[in-house]
Amino acid sequence: MKISLKKIAAMITGMFLVLATAAGCSATRSDEYYGRSGGGTIGISMPSKSLERWSRDGDYLQKQLQDMGYKTSMQYADNKVEQQISQIQNMINEGPAVIIVASIDGSALAPVLAQAKQAGIKVIAYDRLIRDTDAVSYYVTFDNYRVGQMQGEYIVKELGLDQGKGPFNFEPFSGSPDDNNARYFFEGAWDQLKPYLDKGQLKVPSGKAPANVADWQSIGIQAWMAPTAQAEMETRLNSFYRGGTRVDAVLAPNDALALGITQALDADGYTQDTWPVLTGQDADQANVTNIVKGRQSMTVWKDTRKLADQAALMVDQIVKGEEVTVNDTETYENGMMVVPTYLLEPVVINAENAREKLVDSGYYSAAEIGLE
Ligand code: BGC
Repeated sequence: MKISLKKIAAMITGMFLVLATAAGCSATRSDEYYGRSGGGTIGISMPSKSLERWSRDGDYLQKQLQDMGYKTSMQYADNKVEQQISQIQNMINEGPAVIIVASIDGSALAPVLAQAKQAGIKVIAYDRLIRDTDAVSYYVTFDNYRVGQMQGEYIVKELGLDQGKGPFNFEPFSGSPDDNNARYFFEGAWDQLKPYLDKGQLKVPSGKAPANVADWQSIGIQAWMAPTAQAEMETRLNSFYRGGTRVDAVLAPNDALALGITQALDADGYTQDTWPVLTGQDADQANVTNIVKGRQSMTVWKDTRKLADQAALMVDQIVKGEEVTVNDTETYENGMMVVPTYLLEPVVINAENAREKLVDSGYYSAAEIGLE
């Protein structure tokens, strides 16, 4: 076999190129993977700034990671799925070791995350599970089923359903149909409440109660929008609660919806004395203030600081190649795989314990929630 000098020269140049590129790559990669102070950038993709909780999550998460020495690149997607996809795309191009994603639509990210996986980037699903993909490495969240269960239990206890009281008028709502969490919230609540619907202790005058738990989306509020919940509650009150009929309990799956429902109750003339049992979730400032004033019964607090701490720990363990701490390897099947998960325990907040839980822990000042 004859090889020309020209070919040999080309081969040698090629080999140099390969070696040079490999050296370049490994330098950049190891900087990004291990050199925390040396410039590893962690991607953080958040759904929207319009809901208070996500702003808190983002700020705290960013601070935690920066305090640990990581650079961060955080984007909010204005609740627009396409925007979130292109933001994740940009993050992938920055070559991070890990991207943390709180998804808008849990089923829409599979293609972009496949690219992340191919680039060797680990993905942590934050608060909301990402479905139909094998490109999610870990999930960190509060126990979503437990959140709904706490809401259901609260209604049972406040109305005395477990002591046989009733019948009461009850109106249920569920969260955004594209949010995987919303299903767990509803399931948790419904498992508590359904037996009392069956026994006739709870009646739903509007008829807006799903025939079974799998139909939870039929009473969902798209994108968790407070104004939509308000309009829906107004319609129910105007159409089914005339002539002295009063609503005794409302299942609101989160605080945004509870705020909308509160506006509708207000406009309809409900007062502190006639206010129904009203649930919530997130311990948003306006809602906790309402709880203190007796205009919302409870909220389920998911301390965003704990969630962020856990997510930051996961990032650090991944980057250092350590075993990642999880405590649930069975529950969160995403359609393609069971995602190893770290579950945190939520806490019920009401007028009695708001100060102890939220003020004493530094989450809010007393003044911020109307306690001064
Ligand atoms: C979160 C809730 C939040 C809701 C709306 C859910 O996925 O778990 O905490 O209230 O989204 O943003």
